[in-house]
Amino acid sequence: MKYNFDEIIDRRGTSSVKWDGVQKYWKGRNDLLPMWVADMDFKTAPFVVEALKKRLNHEVIGYTFACDEWYDAIINWVNVRFDLTITRDMIDYSPGIVHGITFAILCFTDPGDKVMVTPPVYHPFFLMTEHNNREVVWSPLVLEDGQYHIDFDRFRQDVQGCKLFILSNPHNPGGRVWTKEELQTIASICAESGTIVISDEIHADLTLPPYRHHTFSTVSEEAKHHSITFMSPSKAFNMPGLSSSYCIVEDDKLRAKFFGFLQASELDEGHFLACIGAAAAYSHGTEWLDQMLAYVKDNIEYLDRYLKEHIPAIKAIIPQASYLVFLDCRDLKLSQKQLCDLFEDRAHLALNSGTTFGKQGEGFMRMNVGCPRETLIKALQQLEKAVNG
Ligand SMILES: Cc1ncc(COP(=O)(O)O)c(C=O)c1O
Repeated sequence: MKYNFDEIIDRRGTSSVKWDGVQKYWKGRNDLLPMWVADMDFKTAPFVVEALKKRLNHEVIGYTFACDEWYDAIINWVNVRFDLTITRDMIDYSPGIVHGITFAILCFTDPGDKVMVTPPVYHPFFLMTEHNNREVVWSPLVLEDGQYHIDFDRFRQDVQGCKLFILSNPHNPGGRVWTKEELQTIASICAESGTIVISDEIHADLTLPPYRHHTFSTVSEEAKHHSITFMSPSKAFNMPGLSSSYCIVEDDKLRAKFFGFLQASELDEGHFLACIGAAAAYSHGTEWLDQMLAYVKDNIEYLDRYLKEHIPAIKAIIPQASYLVFLDCRDLKLSQKQLCDLFEDRAHLALNSGTTFGKQGEGFMRMNVGCPRETLIKALQQLEKAVNG
C-alpha cells in the first residue's frame, strides 16, 4: 500500500468532537476510547491538505467564488463513479449536508407538514424536522437475514400526505446500499404521493466492493424529477471539518425553488477552502480511496471474525458501505441503559447508543471502525473483557 492507514495519530487537543468531545458528552470522563462520531482517525487525504496549504501560501484571503475546478471536478466525479450526467447550473454549494437538508425542509414544507424517515436512521433527519416544527412520520425498516430492508407496503401507506422523504443512500447506521430496484420502487411510490425525495449520499463514495451505489436521481425519470441529491467528499476523504458539501437538482422547477431559496439568503456562499479541498479530493482521490476502502473492509472483516470467535452474543450488521457498524447486542438481554453502561463503565468505550437513531435502535450500538487496526483490536479486547469478564 502506498498510504499508511496503520499510523496512530493523537487527535486530542484539536477540538475534535470525536476525541476531545468525549469529556464533554460523557461528563468529564477521559477513560473512554472513542469509536463514535463519523470521521476517521486516518490522516486526511494528503493531496487535499497540500492543495489547502498551497492556497494559504498566497496569504490574501479575500472574497472568493467557487472555482471552476470545483464544478469540473464534481461533474467528472459523479459521472465516472455514478453514471450521473449533470451540468454546472445543477450544482450549488451547501455548508454541510445537515444544513442543506434543513434548508430543504424550510424551503419545501410549512410548520406542521409531514416529513418521513425510515428508522433506525441518521438522527438529524428527524431532529431537524422536529426542531423546525414539522411532523416526523416514522416508517421503520425491517431487519431480515442480517440486513435492513424497506417494508414497501408500510412505506406506501406512511408516505401518503408527506411533503418530503429523507433517504439515507447508502444507509446510516445500517450500512445498506439500496439496489436499483428498491430505489425505483421508492421513486414510483413518492412520485405518486407527490413526495419530494431528499437523497443524502454522503456515504456513497464509501461503497464497499462488490456493492454498487446508485444515485437516486439516476434510477428513473420519476426519481430525477422528484429529488434533491446531497453529496460531499467529506466522509470519504476524511475532511468533514471543511464543510465541503453540495447539492444537485436536475428538475428545473425544483431547482429554481431550492436554489432560489438558498441564494435569497446567500446560504450557498461557498467557503473558498472547501471548494479547493473538494476539487483536490475528486481530482486526485481514486487510488487513495481504493486503498482506504480496502483497509476499512479488512477492519470490518476483522471485527466480524473477532465477535464470532470471542463475543458471539454481539453480532455485526455487515455494512455494504462506510465504516460504521451497527452492532446487534440484543442477545445480551440488557436494557439500553445497561447496554450503554456495559460499553462505557466496563469496556471503557465511547460508541453511539442505538436509540440515538430512533427507538428501533434499541439493543444496538454503533461502532466506527474508520481507525488503525491497532485501535480496533484494543477496543475489541476491552469489549471482550467487559462482556465475558
Ligand atoms: C447520513 C449522513 N448525512 C450527513 C452527515 C453529516 O454531514 P455534514 O457534516 O455535511 O452535515 C452524516 C454524518 O455522519 C451522515 O451519516
